[in-house]
Amino acid sequence: MHLKLGSIHTIVVSSPEIAKQILQKHDKIFSGRAVPHAAEAMDHDKASVAWLPTQIKWRKLRKICKEQMFAMHKLEASEGLRQEKLKQLRDYLHERCTSKRVVNIGEVAFVTSLNLMSATLFSLDFARFDSNSAHEMKEIFQELMKILGTPNLADYFPVLKLIDPQGLKRGTKVYFGKLFAMFDEIISERLQSRSISSDSTRKNDLLEVLLDINQQSDSDLSLNDIKHLILLLRLNRYGADTTTDSVQWAMTELLRNPNKMLKAKHELRTIIGENKQVEESDISRLPYLHAVIKETFRYHPAGPFLIPHKAEDNVEINGYMVPKNAQIFVNVWAIGRDSNIWSNPDSFEPERFLDSKIDYTGQDFELINFGSGRRICPGLPLAHVMVHLMVATLIHNFEWKLEPGMKPEEIDVNEMFGLSLHKAVPLRAFPTK
Ligand code: HEM
Repeated sequence: MHLKLGSIHTIVVSSPEIAKQILQKHDKIFSGRAVPHAAEAMDHDKASVAWLPTQIKWRKLRKICKEQMFAMHKLEASEGLRQEKLKQLRDYLHERCTSKRVVNIGEVAFVTSLNLMSATLFSLDFARFDSNSAHEMKEIFQELMKILGTPNLADYFPVLKLIDPQGLKRGTKVYFGKLFAMFDEIISERLQSRSISSDSTRKNDLLEVLLDINQQSDSDLSLNDIKHLILLLRLNRYGADTTTDSVQWAMTELLRNPNKMLKAKHELRTIIGENKQVEESDISRLPYLHAVIKETFRYHPAGPFLIPHKAEDNVEINGYMVPKNAQIFVNVWAIGRDSNIWSNPDSFEPERFLDSKIDYTGQDFELINFGSGRRICPGLPLAHVMVHLMVATLIHNFEWKLEPGMKPEEIDVNEMFGLSLHKAVPLRAFPTK
């Protein structure tokens, strides 16, 4: 589909075959980014791996992400930090079981994923359940998501950039500024403690790794680059916390489909064992849970479109000329609901993945929630463990009851589109033991 939005040619790709041509066959030409005007706030676009052109600086940052941050052995080193956060989640659910109070699953998933990320990055909690700091952080992210999800006239009529008619870049600057002030504090405290402490008190987190790189004599990773990298990793997909949304959708579907919930719980009980906690190395032994997550990605992709790509040159695809500078929207949502690819696409059936090799690692263009090719999501290994472990923690050893009078099929599944596709009505349920 070709749309002319303002002065910008926009191509929407909604089939695996064409997505493969864009992201694999012509990967290099389509690896550009159409940078939204709001992302230029505080020069984020010039320091951020998500917006830089695929040249030297982008390659350096991607290499750091791949080798120093999200490589398996690096993630293994920080697993303890994440296990601690999952224990806090279990303790919170136990307390709610005892007090028989309802749990807002979206909120709990948000706090846990924020803390899993913050623990992995800085060994810190950003928020506690039901605390003011959790609400404040959530508000910052929600405001940013609202701003960044608002179509911006300046993106389609570049001449308007000068006046920023909707004030979206100015708004982004305010919230980026609040987050940068927090990061500044964390970084300067860490630099101070590194200068006085010994190697044995080193933290196992990613900030330590980034500061090591920054302090090498030939380093070109500045403290400013580190702040933008952290901002991007924390915001992941522009403030739309895709991990939170994915967990909330997985729980929504499991509660709507009690027999699938039973199967997932049964697998956890038999393979992990009653009262034992799931660890990251267990994930590969849990095929049904993995199928539940894949089906959640297919049916409710948190990012309905990949981050828009940009054509760096004219290129012919299937007899059509895609002009240089056209922006490309890959419609992951449409591919996931296409009845030519999936049987019963409008029903939640994890079983479809049990005998299938299709995965979301970027090789199968039917399921490209993390993209494919050189722009594929570098945080995939971390997102993979976080989503599986959060869902496993929520269902293993807990039963869930809906609010009085509500039937499973009545759970609201309306989607709301900001930058991510999240549940319009928060999912609430009672945990019991
Ligand atoms: C369920 C969770 C997640 C989903 C579905 C997701 C999905 C995506 C997608 C679709 C892209 C764009 C791919 C493209 O342009 O073709 C992307 C890019 C990116 N993601 Fe993720 N992501 C998730 C979690 C994470 C996490 C946890 C991190 C880091 C901690 C992360 C970091 C990034 C970065 C840095 C980019 C930009 C890469 C570039 O442009 O070179 N993501 N992600």
